[in-house]
Amino acid sequence: MYRYLPVTGAESMPPTVCVIAGDDAAPEVVRPTVEILRELAPSIHFEEAISGREAIARTGEAFPAETRAAIDAAACTIFGASGGPSRPILWYLRWGKQTAVNIRPVRWSPGYRSPMLHPERIDYVIVRDNLEGMYPPREGDLKELSQLASSASWWQTPPTDVEGSYAVRVNTDEQARRIAHATCELALQRQAAGYPGRVTLGAKYSILPRTDGRFRAIVRETVQQYASLSYQEFLIDDLARRLIAEPETLDVVVMGNEHGDILADAASGTIGGLGLAPSGCYGEQYAYFEPVHGSAPDLVGKGVINPTAMLLTGTFLLNYLGSDEQAHRLEQAIAAVYRDGKTLTVDQGGKATTRDFMAAVREKL
Ligand code: NAD
Ligand code: IPM
Ligand code: MN
Repeated sequence: MYRYLPVTGAESMPPTVCVIAGDDAAPEVVRPTVEILRELAPSIHFEEAISGREAIARTGEAFPAETRAAIDAAACTIFGASGGPSRPILWYLRWGKQTAVNIRPVRWSPGYRSPMLHPERIDYVIVRDNLEGMYPPREGDLKELSQLASSASWWQTPPTDVEGSYAVRVNTDEQARRIAHATCELALQRQAAGYPGRVTLGAKYSILPRTDGRFRAIVRETVQQYASLSYQEFLIDDLARRLIAEPETLDVVVMGNEHGDILADAASGTIGGLGLAPSGCYGEQYAYFEPVHGSAPDLVGKGVINPTAMLLTGTFLLNYLGSDEQAHRLEQAIAAVYRDGKTLTVDQGGKATTRDFMAAVREKL
């Protein structure tokens, strides 16, 4: 259960959830997931707002005012993924709604097609900065850097007399503290459920002392305020190896935006792929729920995309709205389908279609 921030959504009863299907193959997992959520929690009101190509065709805009109003009016949003057209909506869900903390659990379950020898050791959570660092893009022409060039030492001086570009990485202390506290709160929650209460930081503090070094210092200081938690830190490249070589040493892993983005995909590979990796994005006033994976354009229209990541993402939404019992039932039903191993999608070595998989989950429910 990942309800560690104030549950603002549950206050508006019955809660409304905005549904954004997104691009490419994303609607093929969002719509069946919402169908199941509706059946499980009839008191939650799901309303789909237009997005992507459909929005462009109908309104001439990728992010029409009606979609924005639907997001604002809802307690939270469930979002498929953007393959391009729905990107302005994603930007709004992140920066417009200030959903600061991205929670990406990495847990193997019996039946998942993991390439690892001992996948049963994999059960940790990535906490990723959802707002700062390299994203949103702030890029420019090298020539704009002439001022920086004059203050840098010789080996850091960017060339400003050749064609090229740069990107700016921005980190605020406020956001670092937010991420650090969310990490610790989550570690405490897990500790209460029997996990070791261990926070692991991954960053490039060796070579980026003023950005990643500062992030590291803030996380360290914050963890010290939580007497029952322990702390370890690794350079991000070494942490990448540890995700594979010794995942059992990880409990709650905190990373910056781009590091968490990349390593969450890598981590999903250890349990059996992107089809199995859920996520939730939490702010102080709002939350939205999207899987780790993207819009899977290579699967569009084939009816074979694995809906597990989206369904598990749906369980976080249920938790957020206080429907813990329903979330638990859905999680158990999915686990039972994998334990049986008879109705698995292609990415898991099976032959089942998305629809077959959904039917199997329904049967378990
Ligand atoms: P992707 O996650 O869409 O796909 C990567 C690979 O994993 C593909 O082979 C795909 O078929 C497979 N895959 C993904 N989800 C799957 C599922 N549920 N079941 C089975 N297989 C699955 O990443 P990509 O191909 O690098 O990106 C495609 C588009 O998605 C890009 O436009 C990218 O920017 C976007 N994207 C959006 C988000 C988001 O909206 N939050 C996240 C990641 C990528
Ligand atoms: C993700 C995606 C996004 C990100 C892209 C689409 C901006 O990869 O949610 O993991 O990097 O945050
Ligand atoms: Mn990503």
